[in-house]
Amino acid sequence: MGISYNEQSRTFKLDTCASTYMIGIADDENFVGHIYFGPYIDDDNISYLMRTKEPPFVPSVNGRDRLAFYDSFPSEYPTHGLGDYRDDALAIRTGKGNTALKLSFVSYDIIPGKKPIQGLPATFGSPDECCTLELTCRDEILGIDVILSYTVFENVDAIARSVKVINNAGDPIELTRVMSMCLDMDNEDYDLITLHGSWARERHINRRPLSKGIQGVSSLKGESGHQEHPFMAVLDHNADQDRGEVFGFSFVYSGNFLAECYVNQFDSVRVMMGINPEDFTWRLEPGDEFETPEVIMVHSSEGIGNMTRSFHDLFRNHLIRSPYKDLKRPILINNWEATYFEFDTDKLIAIVDEASKLGIEMLVMDDGWFGHRDSDNSSLGDWYVYEDKLKGGLKHLVDEVNKRGMKFGIWFEPEMISPDSDLYRAHPDWAIAIEGRTPGQAREQYVLDLTRPEVVDYTYDQVSKILKSANIEYVKWDMNRPLADMGSAKLPPKKMGEMFHRYMLGVYELQERLITDFPNLLLENCSGGGGRFDPGMLYYSPQIWCSDDTDAIERLSIQEGTSIVYPLSAMGAHVSDCPNHTVGRVTPFKTRGYVALAGTFGYELDVTKIPEEDRNMIPDQVKMYHTYNDLVRMGDYFRLASFSENREYDCYMVVSKDKSEALLTFVQVLNRPNQHSRKIRLKGLDPKRRYELTYVDPEDEKNNTLSGETYSGDILMKAGILIQNPWGDFQGRLISIKAV
Ligand code: GLA
Repeated sequence: MGISYNEQSRTFKLDTCASTYMIGIADDENFVGHIYFGPYIDDDNISYLMRTKEPPFVPSVNGRDRLAFYDSFPSEYPTHGLGDYRDDALAIRTGKGNTALKLSFVSYDIIPGKKPIQGLPATFGSPDECCTLELTCRDEILGIDVILSYTVFENVDAIARSVKVINNAGDPIELTRVMSMCLDMDNEDYDLITLHGSWARERHINRRPLSKGIQGVSSLKGESGHQEHPFMAVLDHNADQDRGEVFGFSFVYSGNFLAECYVNQFDSVRVMMGINPEDFTWRLEPGDEFETPEVIMVHSSEGIGNMTRSFHDLFRNHLIRSPYKDLKRPILINNWEATYFEFDTDKLIAIVDEASKLGIEMLVMDDGWFGHRDSDNSSLGDWYVYEDKLKGGLKHLVDEVNKRGMKFGIWFEPEMISPDSDLYRAHPDWAIAIEGRTPGQAREQYVLDLTRPEVVDYTYDQVSKILKSANIEYVKWDMNRPLADMGSAKLPPKKMGEMFHRYMLGVYELQERLITDFPNLLLENCSGGGGRFDPGMLYYSPQIWCSDDTDAIERLSIQEGTSIVYPLSAMGAHVSDCPNHTVGRVTPFKTRGYVALAGTFGYELDVTKIPEEDRNMIPDQVKMYHTYNDLVRMGDYFRLASFSENREYDCYMVVSKDKSEALLTFVQVLNRPNQHSRKIRLKGLDPKRRYELTYVDPEDEKNNTLSGETYSGDILMKAGILIQNPWGDFQGRLISIKAV
C-alpha cells in the first residue's frame, strides 16, 4: 500500500486498500501519462496501457506525427495549444500573447502525510493515514513549473489531487485555465451520474449513458449552486448500488466549477474537474504560485454504495474539522418557518418555554433580528440588534433562553449588503458592481466585495462583536443570492478576472477566522437552502442546511442525492409544520420525524401553535434522536430502494461499523390497493450473526411479522424481510435491528 516508484519502468503506483492508480513517464521527452485506475493490482508491469508502442507512436519514433501523438496520449495533465485537441487542463497567456505550453516530468517526491492548500479547504491526514506524491513538471521554454499532487488515503480508498503552478520565468503570465485533475481512460460503456435541481429541489440524481463529445456540469454563480453540483460519477452501464465499477469525483470548492467528461474519436473518456475557466484568469508575477482546490477521486468495484461509503468516511474523518464532527448536535428549534420576520423577545420566549419542556435543546433565531429588518428588503450589513423586536437586547434574550435550559443560536448573512442599509449608505463601493453600471439585485440585495481585505475585516468584526455580546453557541451562515456584475472598486483591471476566486478566498478566510476565534461554535452553512452544500463548506462547518424544502416527501429525493456523497451527519434536516410551506403537502408528523432523523434533526415550526397531537409526539422523537443519532452519524449508509426510481417507496439503512446494530427507514409514498407486503433485502450486516428486528413505534410493532424471533444476517440480506403495506399515503416505518 502507499506510493512506490519503479525506476526501470518509470512508473508510479499509488495503492489504497482496494484500488490502484498508475502514472507513467514516457519517451525521451518525459511525457506524464495515465496508465491505470481500478481495482487493486499487485503487479505494475502495465505501462503498455499508455499505447506508446502503437501508432501513432511517441515522438522519438514518429516525429512527423507529433500532433497525432498529443491528441491520443492518455495524459495526466494535458496542456493547451500543441495538438491535444481534447479540452485541456492547463492554459496560459504569456506576455507575448502565446497560449501553448508543454510539460515534461522533472522530478518527484514522496511525502508522508499531506500538506495544506494555502487559503483553501482541503482534506487532511497524519503520516499514518496518508502519503503524497508530488510530480514536478516543467515547460523549459517558458520557465513554468507545475506540481501535480496526489494524496493516497490508504484505508479510506480515496485519492486527493491538486495542482500548483509556479512562474519561474522573468515575465508575468496569466493562467486562463487550471483544472485540478484530469483522468484519461478507455470508455467501457459508461454511464454518468450528476446531481441537478433548483431552489427547494436540490441534488436530484440524474443518470445517463456517456455519449460522444463534451458533457458535464458547472456553475458560474459564484457558489456551487442549487442547479448543478461539483460531483460526478462515471460508472459501468450495469453498475447498481452493490455491483459494478464506479469512479466518483468530488470537488472541494464552493465557487464556480466545471466538471466534464469528453468522449473523443477513439471513445476514450477525459474526465476533468476544477475551477470554471469561464470568467477566470489569474496573473502570476515572476516567483508567484497558484494552488488549485482539490478533487477527491474514489474508485469502487462494488457499486455506487461502496463509493458513497468511502466519501462518507473520508469527509467525516479527513475533511470536517469541527469538534462537533464526532458529537451529537443539540436538537434545535429554528423560528424561520415558525414566525418568518414577525417575532419579538416574547414570542421567542414563548416558543422556548414550550420547546424546553419537550426536550428541545437549542433555539435558533433566524433572519430578522438586526438593523430594521421586517422583510427581506433591508438591513443586510447592519449587524446590530433591532431593539424594537428584541426588547432588552440580545444578551437578555440569550440569558432567558439559557435560564430555561436551552442553548442559543443565531442567523447571519455576512456576505451581503442591502441597498437600504447604513453600511451601503456609508460604503456604496463595497458592493460588487461594474463601474458605470447599476448592479442587478436579487432578493433586493447586493453582494459584498470580499476580494477587499478591509471588507473582510469589517464583516468579521461585526459578526464577532455580536458573538461576543452573549452566550451564542451556534451560527447559521446564510448566503441568499448568486454573484453577478463582477466588478470591484479596488481590483486593478489586470486582476479583474481573479474576482470570483478571490471572493471565495475571502469567504473561506472569514469562516476560518470565525472557527479559530470561536473554536466551540457549531457552524451551519446555508445558501437559500442547499445552494452551497459542498465539500468546501464542510471544512468549516460540520453541517449544512440541505434545502429550504422541509416537506418529508420532497426531502426523500433531496436527501438521497445528497447522501450519495455526503454523510448523514452533515445534512441539516428539520421537522416542520403542515401543510408544508413550500409544497402544501400534508404528511404525518411521525414520517416527518423519521425523515429528519437521517440528518442533523431539529424543528422548524411554532411549537405553541402546532396541533396538540403533533406536539405530544415530540418527546418520543427527542428520545428517538438520542437513541439513534450516534448510529446515524457514524454508521455505514446503505440504500435499499429509491422513491426517485420506483415512484412508490423509499428505503435505506444505517449499520454501525461493528455491525452490531442497524436502523432501517421505510417510507411508503403512495399507497397502492391490494399491495403485498414489500420484500426488502437488508445490507451491510454480519452474515454470521443473528439479529432481532423491532419497529421503533410500538403501534407498528403490532404488524411485525418477524417479532419474537432472531434471524441470521445471511438470511436478512439474501432472503430479505417483509414490511406490511401501511394504511395511507406518506407513511413511515422505522425498524431497529440489533445483534443478539
Ligand atoms: C434562506 C434560508 C432559510 C432562512 C431564510 C431567511 O432562504 O435557507 O432557512 O434562513 O434564508 O431569510
